[in-house]
Amino acid sequence: MVAYLRTVPPIANPNLPAPRPPSAIAARESGHDGDPLGEQIYAGACASCHGWTGQSPISGLATIAGARSVNDPSGVNVAQVILFGGGRRPGEAGMAMPAFGDAYSNAEIAAAANFVTARFGAEGSRLTPDNVAALRLSR
Ligand code: HEC
Repeated sequence: MVAYLRTVPPIANPNLPAPRPPSAIAARESGHDGDPLGEQIYAGACASCHGWTGQSPISGLATIAGARSVNDPSGVNVAQVILFGGGRRPGEAGMAMPAFGDAYSNAEIAAAANFVTARFGAEGSRLTPDNVAALRLSR
């Protein structure tokens, strides 16, 4: 399914900014993408799987460059996947995105999501700790 979805060309949506292409991300250096706390969290908890270009060094499943979630300026899907993890269950083939909801505060998750959308997406999100608190209650 994932392999198929990655073959579907992106469709321009006038309501969303154009996705930032992987080549444009790769050309940037690490850092200076807005949120310093978010960058620190990304360096410690995310970069090993997702890399600094958003192209995963270990699995195509974990490539986030070009993903719809990171190109959504609301940042909601990114914050949700950080809070609750990916949809895949342990034991399913491939690797899974871990949940970080118990490991980080609302401020830390907002910072991480804002960093991820600013670095890998078309436009950085501006999630607040209160937004993340509301997302925690949505499940
Ligand atoms: C152990 C490896 C691993 C770590 C660590 C990890 N991820 Fe992931 N992540 C994945 C995988 C694999 C996926 C693909 C989704 C799935 O299949 O569950 C994913 C998916 C995602 C997505 C969704 C991409 C899409 O397709 O919409 C985002 C955003 C994301 N991760 C951000 C993060 C952030 C931020 C961190 C650190 C707080 C992090 N990840 C830590 C492996 C990891």
